[in-house]
Amino acid sequence: MGVTYKNNRCSYIFIIKYRRKIMKYFFVGGFGLLVIILFSKVIVALELVNLDTFSTNAELKLSAVNATNEKKLKIIGKQTYEVFCSSCHGMNGEGNNGKAHNHTKRIAEKTVLDIIQNGSNNFKSIYPSGMPAGLVNDTDAKELAKYVANSLKGKKPKSWMVCATCHDESGEGISYVAPNIKEYSDELVATVLKNGKKGVIGTMPDFFWEKLSEMQIKALATYIRSIQK
Ligand code: HEC
Ligand code: HEC
Repeated sequence: MGVTYKNNRCSYIFIIKYRRKIMKYFFVGGFGLLVIILFSKVIVALELVNLDTFSTNAELKLSAVNATNEKKLKIIGKQTYEVFCSSCHGMNGEGNNGKAHNHTKRIAEKTVLDIIQNGSNNFKSIYPSGMPAGLVNDTDAKELAKYVANSLKGKKPKSWMVCATCHDESGEGISYVAPNIKEYSDELVATVLKNGKKGVIGTMPDFFWEKLSEMQIKALATYIRSIQK
């Protein structure tokens, strides 16, 4: 019994002695709680914005499943492009004043020249050893850059022989050897989205892989092919 009494007294004295501190904790705690509530409201609001884009992409994904022909693929591709790509590549795909690659052409002359001179190792998922630098001299490099940037139309430079061993005579690439440098194949677009790309124009991130379905990537490639000039 005595022990209980002592204990009660103890807690009573405790409250008297520390009442200022206890009040302070109440205030600080209450204020903290308020901050947490406000903060979570902001998070929820942000989440909703996020969910919104997700539901658009979910819809795009769903419609991509039904894209059974070229025309439908092109429409889905255009919509997907506007959501994920246009911020850098521009609404019309022309590269936003040089910020990103101009998609109305397969490849820019300065990109080809840079890759011949410096080599390239962006697409590690398919070509782990990349393309070696300095396969031809500067004069040939300039001639080849013009030829390749013009979708391999016009007079074929003699030195194309060197490139054809890996990129094929047609320039359409050889599976697991070198990519298609003549046009945007489905495989090339998928590879760029998976690996990203760092080049003379800038850097493209590689975060698209988880967000896009296989069908959406096919649709994107179809759309990009359709805006070729
Ligand atoms: C030994 C094989 C090989 C040879 C020879 C070769 N390439 Fe390549 N090329 C590759 C590989 C592999 C890649 C992919 C590089 C990467 O992963 O970034 C590539 C990439 C490229 C690209 C960039 C494609 C893109 O989408 O960014 C261009 C342009 C190119 N090559 C042009 C040429 C030209 C022009 C020649 C002739 C001088 C040539 N290549 C010779 C293997 C080769
Ligand atoms: C953050 C900006 C950014 C976004 C978003 C972006 N890209 Fe790019 N992309 C670039 C840049 C920069 C390059 C040029 C890289 C270089 O060659 O210097 C590029 C190049 C490319 C290339 C050309 C690769 C080659 O072979 O030369 C393709 C294809 C491409 N992007 C597709 C896409 C698609 C499809 C999307 C949307 C799903 C997309 N990009 C979104 C910045 C971006």
